[in-house]
Amino acid sequence: MAMEIRGTGKAVPVRRVSNDDLAGKIDTSDEWIRSHTGIGARHIAGEGTACSDLALEAAREALAMTAGWEGGDRENRDLAAAEAAKSLDLIVLATAGPDVYGCPSTACLVQDRLGARQAAAMDITAGCTGFVYGRETAAGLLLAGKTRKRALVIGSELLSKLTNWDDRGTCVLFGDGAGAVVLEKTGAPSEGPGRRGLVGSVLGADGSGADHLVIRRGGTRNPFKAGETVGIPPHIEMNGQAVYNFAVKAFADTCRRLLAEDGIGVDDVALIVPHQANARIVQAAAKRLGIPEEKFFLNIGEYANTSAASIPIALDELNRAGRLKQGDLVMTVAFGGGLPFGGNLIVW
Ligand code: UT7
Repeated sequence: MAMEIRGTGKAVPVRRVSNDDLAGKIDTSDEWIRSHTGIGARHIAGEGTACSDLALEAAREALAMTAGWEGGDRENRDLAAAEAAKSLDLIVLATAGPDVYGCPSTACLVQDRLGARQAAAMDITAGCTGFVYGRETAAGLLLAGKTRKRALVIGSELLSKLTNWDDRGTCVLFGDGAGAVVLEKTGAPSEGPGRRGLVGSVLGADGSGADHLVIRRGGTRNPFKAGETVGIPPHIEMNGQAVYNFAVKAFADTCRRLLAEDGIGVDDVALIVPHQANARIVQAAAKRLGIPEEKFFLNIGEYANTSAASIPIALDELNRAGRLKQGDLVMTVAFGGGLPFGGNLIVW
């Protein structure tokens, strides 16, 4: 039995904010942001847009692809997506910024708007590693249920709404977006010759670093109090250097373990699709691993760090550009707030 990706989709807000746009508002520069992160721009959602809106759009793109929709009229796309949604057994949505906290899950809101009546729905909180955890969870649940066949895995983030726009150390790093894949349990082999789909996985976490990337307000540890005036809404606080050091090590260790556990060399891997946090993290990990940088796909220049959405957005871009050929071995690797990390090996 194989867990194969049947469709991919993405949704990115139209509004593009360049480094120069930011430099007009805070004490930063295009030169600093590019040289320290590789980021050139980010896309920012409008005030009325929430996590489920971007998630729904990415999901429809992915579902319409499975139905053979090849672009054109949006209404037809939505009809194709709605038809495909009927066969979904599961929706797993990874995010750090759900529509509302606690309840309902954003996955339930997407399930309703898609009309995926047969699908179970749940959110995953694993920071920027959310998509890797989400795909793994979905694959496990498909395997566990005899009649379950199809899952939708979404990463959707609006970090612009969880950012302190006066903190130049964090606000230049993040962007909004969503990506989705349709995962299907098929009769193809997952081992040996002709293997397909998800063939390797590494998951881990280092909770001792939880304080290095944190949203402190709004939860049960530090709830808002009646009558309290909020100066800055809940926002990400980060110890950049500590996260950087953790990320380079977790990144390199995850790649090494994925290769070793599968008994393959890096030359067998067609492409590595990393979480897009900082181009320097990718370069440093590549150096540690002795892997040429060309092996890594980077689109951080355009979208910045979209957390759990960054890998599925990248997969969709690569897929639609025809850069993922059937049989290609693709490695994904992610790390982030919590501090979880992980990666997957996928035969496309
Ligand atoms: O998805 C996972 C989440 N996060 C990450 O992966 C982030 C991991 N960390 C990083 O990517 C890097 O640590 C950063 C990009 C966040 C920061 O780069 P850095 O080279 O570690 O810079 P720094 O924090 O050590 O700051 C160096 C200088 C400081 O000035 P002084 O004290 O040397 O005068 C900062 O105040 O750069 C200054 N600085 C800025 N200057 C211009 C910090 N942010 C900015 C800015 N524009 N936006």
